[in-house]
Amino acid sequence: MTSADPVSLPSDDAPILPDWPVSTQIDLADEAASDALAHRLSVVLEPGDTLLLSGALGAGKTHIARALIRSWMGNPDEPVASPTFTLVQTYASDRGEIWHADLYRLSDPQELVELGLDDAFGASLCLIEWPDRIAPDWPRACLLHLKRQDDDTRRATLMVAPGVKMAPRLAKAFAE
Ligand SMILES: Nc1ncnc2c1ncn2[C@@H]1O[C@H](COP(=O)(O)OP(=O)(O)O)[C@@H](O)[C@H]1O
Ligand SMILES: [Mg+2]
Repeated sequence: MTSADPVSLPSDDAPILPDWPVSTQIDLADEAASDALAHRLSVVLEPGDTLLLSGALGAGKTHIARALIRSWMGNPDEPVASPTFTLVQTYASDRGEIWHADLYRLSDPQELVELGLDDAFGASLCLIEWPDRIAPDWPRACLLHLKRQDDDTRRATLMVAPGVKMAPRLAKAFAE
């Protein structure tokens, strides 16, 4: 894992992203590096935090969510299916509940209410793939944007909504 400089999104990437400052950026050289970041994030994240995971298909959003959930649950074998079709999967643990959502197939923002996700924001740890589906109504959160490089490397860019309490904790997890 190496630091990337300057901090900016790759020019060939045109994702829909919130208008939040970029906090930090690192390169994840392989799956193990992504697993390690997911573990560090799981240590600092708390119930009520929302982490948005953006990036193209295959960028590694589910990979990081899975590793994070397993680390949070303290069970490396926890079955974590992609919520591509169910839209939401929930996990209960001593540390609190995790909501893992994939909004790619969201047809209407009203579905967030039907799924119970609007209540989960601020109460549970929420990991949300394809958050741009509800843009511009971004939840107050941090966003991890993943961009596939030439090889297995994924460039991870952290963006932080102004005033979000989890920001210093996440920055610490990135810096370790
Ligand atoms: N550095 C890396 N970080 C995360 N995933 C990686 C990395 N290198 C290769 N991969 C692979 O890329 C794929 C990412 O798939 P997935 O996490 O389902 O993507 P997404 O949810 O963004 O569509 C997985 O097959 C994973 O093994
Ligand atoms: Mg996915």
